[in-house]
Amino acid sequence: MKNLTEGNITDAVIKAIEGTQDARAKEVMTSLIRHLHSFVKEVQLTQDEWETAIDYLYNTGQISGPTRNEFVLTSDTLGISSLVDIINSNPDGGTEASVLGPFYIEGSKMVEVGADLIGDSEGEPTVVSGTVRTLGGEPIADAMIDLWQTAANGLYENQDPEQPENNLRCRMLTNEDGYYQFSTIKPVSYKVPTDGPVGVMLNLQGRHAWRPSHLHFKVSADGHRNVITEVFDEADEYIEEDAVFGVRKSLAIPYTKISEPSEAERFGVPSPFYRVEFDFELEAL
Ligand code: BEZ
Ligand code: FE
Repeated sequence: MKNLTEGNITDAVIKAIEGTQDARAKEVMTSLIRHLHSFVKEVQLTQDEWETAIDYLYNTGQISGPTRNEFVLTSDTLGISSLVDIINSNPDGGTEASVLGPFYIEGSKMVEVGADLIGDSEGEPTVVSGTVRTLGGEPIADAMIDLWQTAANGLYENQDPEQPENNLRCRMLTNEDGYYQFSTIKPVSYKVPTDGPVGVMLNLQGRHAWRPSHLHFKVSADGHRNVITEVFDEADEYIEEDAVFGVRKSLAIPYTKISEPSEAERFGVPSPFYRVEFDFELEAL
C-alpha cells in the first residue's frame, strides 16, 4: 500500500482519473487538480479555511435557482467570466464580447427600427443607433439586435415587480442599410446583488459592488458569429472599477448630451437628450 504524502497525493489523484475517455475533459480535470493542489499547498490551507470554502459553495447553491445564479456572479466578480470572454474573443477583430449577466430574457418583444422604449419611464432621454457590419465593413440587413438595460432605479424589469413586462428591453431587425435605432432612457450605474455569498466575499475583500452604466446587447445574423456585449458610458464614475470586470476600451464610448431642441424634435424625444452611437462588427462563420 502506498503511503500518501503532501509530495505524492497530486500524482495519485491524477492517476485515478487516467481512464477518463473524453480527451479534453481529461486535460481540463488534470490541470484543475494540479492547480487546486498546488494552491492548497501554497497557502497551507487550514481545516477552518477549507470549511469556509465548502460553506461558501453550499450557500451559493442554496441561494441559486432559475432566476438567480450565484455561481455565475462568483465567476463574474472574480474576473473568470471576463477572462473566458477575452480568451475566446475573435483575434481577427469584430466587436469585443462582455458578460451576459443574469438579467437577460430570451424572446423579448419585437419592435421596429426607431422604436420608442421610454413609455412612462423616468430618466434622461437617450437615442441609441448604429450599424451592424461585417469585418469588411459591409452592412448586414436583418441582423437581430437584442437589448436590455436598467430603469432609472438601477433595476432590470425582471428584478422589479413595479416595472411592466418587457420594460426597457426589446428585439429589432436592422434595416436594409444594417441600421438600428431606438429611444430609451440613459442606463444608470447599479450594484450587483450583495444579499448572498458574493456580498460577503466583496465585503471581506473591501470591494464595492457597483457596475458602470451600460446597455446590454446580443447581436446575431445568419452566417455570422453572435456577439454578446455591453456598451458603457465612458464618463461613468465606476468605469475604471467595474465589480465584474466587463469594461473594455472599445466598449466605453461617449454618451453625448445634445441640447439643441431641433435635434430632439428630429428624433421625437424631449430636449435635452443623450446620443449614443455604436456600430457592431460580426465575424462571418
Ligand atoms: C449585468 O450587467 O447585468 C450583470 C453582469 C454580471 C453580474 C451581475 C449583473
Ligand atoms: Fe447590466
